[in-house]
Amino acid sequence: MPDVLGNGFIDLRSDTVTHPSPAMRKAMFEAELGDDVFGDDPTVNALQERAAQLLGKEAALFVASGSMANLVSQLAHLGRGQETIAGASTHIVDDEQAGHAVVVGTSIRQMRENPDGTFDLDGPDGLGEAFRDPADPHEPITGLVAIENTHAHSMGQPLTLAYTEAVAGIAHAHGVPLHVDGARFFNASVALGLTPAQLAEPADSVAFCLSKGLACPIGSMVVGSRDFIHRAWRGRKLVGGGMRQVGVLAAAGLVALSDGPGGMIARLAEDHATARRLAEGLAVMDGVESAGGLAQPTPGPLDPARATTNFVVFRVSRDRVAFLEALKSRGVLMVAYNHGTVRAVTHYGVTPADIERVLAACAGALRETTTETTTETTTMER
Ligand SMILES: Cc1ncc(COP(=O)(O)O)c(C=O)c1O
Repeated sequence: MPDVLGNGFIDLRSDTVTHPSPAMRKAMFEAELGDDVFGDDPTVNALQERAAQLLGKEAALFVASGSMANLVSQLAHLGRGQETIAGASTHIVDDEQAGHAVVVGTSIRQMRENPDGTFDLDGPDGLGEAFRDPADPHEPITGLVAIENTHAHSMGQPLTLAYTEAVAGIAHAHGVPLHVDGARFFNASVALGLTPAQLAEPADSVAFCLSKGLACPIGSMVVGSRDFIHRAWRGRKLVGGGMRQVGVLAAAGLVALSDGPGGMIARLAEDHATARRLAEGLAVMDGVESAGGLAQPTPGPLDPARATTNFVVFRVSRDRVAFLEALKSRGVLMVAYNHGTVRAVTHYGVTPADIERVLAACAGALRETTTETTTETTTMER
């Protein structure tokens, strides 16, 4: 195995564990720099232009993280006291310390989600009914609809263009913009066979991470109209995100988003194939079961067809902590995920041969592990 991470493990805890490629390190070393708060960093400017062009939007902004990308997007779209409509399990709702409330001063109306990562559009619990009545002084004013693509808790399902168009159509009919938390947006576009611009077209803003499947060490992008990006740029400064010679980081992003051999977008298909193979191998193992919930609601064996991007989520009929420890002792890292499940995420540096080693390690760990329950101390990964 090429030990890309240099830690001796096949590390499937997340696609955030990736290290920059040799081409990225070279570009970072050689990057032309300037003070980006003055708008002087040519590498950042080039990355922002490239991101905007790839997603077919007017402008883009480089930020420190996916959470910051969502936060500045909300700052740009919303005023204090407004409300966002978003899926109940999404990162904006669950995993950002209620930044929408603490920093933006807004509430979130949470939508019940389906196992394909969508929420209903019609019916009594559908999107159409979730908008507030602006004429009623009791209610907040709906200011944003947000969806997550890929949708993490449904085992990384990609949301289709048709669905994105339908959500945008309803939002726009209410005079409200659509934001896509696309931390893994390129996984979605690759899985769906669409260009990023096609999938982004219905959205008013998209946030995507460079530091996940695209293997950059740090950074996320926000894209949208010039006006929106201007407001997001102000929001970035507000939350302390104005950085100086940050072209050293942007250089890696430019490599990742390039069409050339160092580009990281097209290769995501390899991660989807390794995830599917992992799911197929796990599915026939005694002791591996459906994750339940949004990841795979049908009880019984793990369904490999649920692995449509780079996530595999499953349950072990064993002590989960002991299973993860037994895996670790065999050189494989996975992570405790929500509702008692285990998550494995494939990424740059994980080869088909690694997956066969992972499957052998899983088989060994399952044999060694009992069903007794240990008190869980593992931190859940996002
Ligand atoms: C769907 C989603 N959105 C946003 C984020 C936040 O990204 P970051 O960890 O860079 O803040 C994550 C991180 O895992 C994510 O999965």
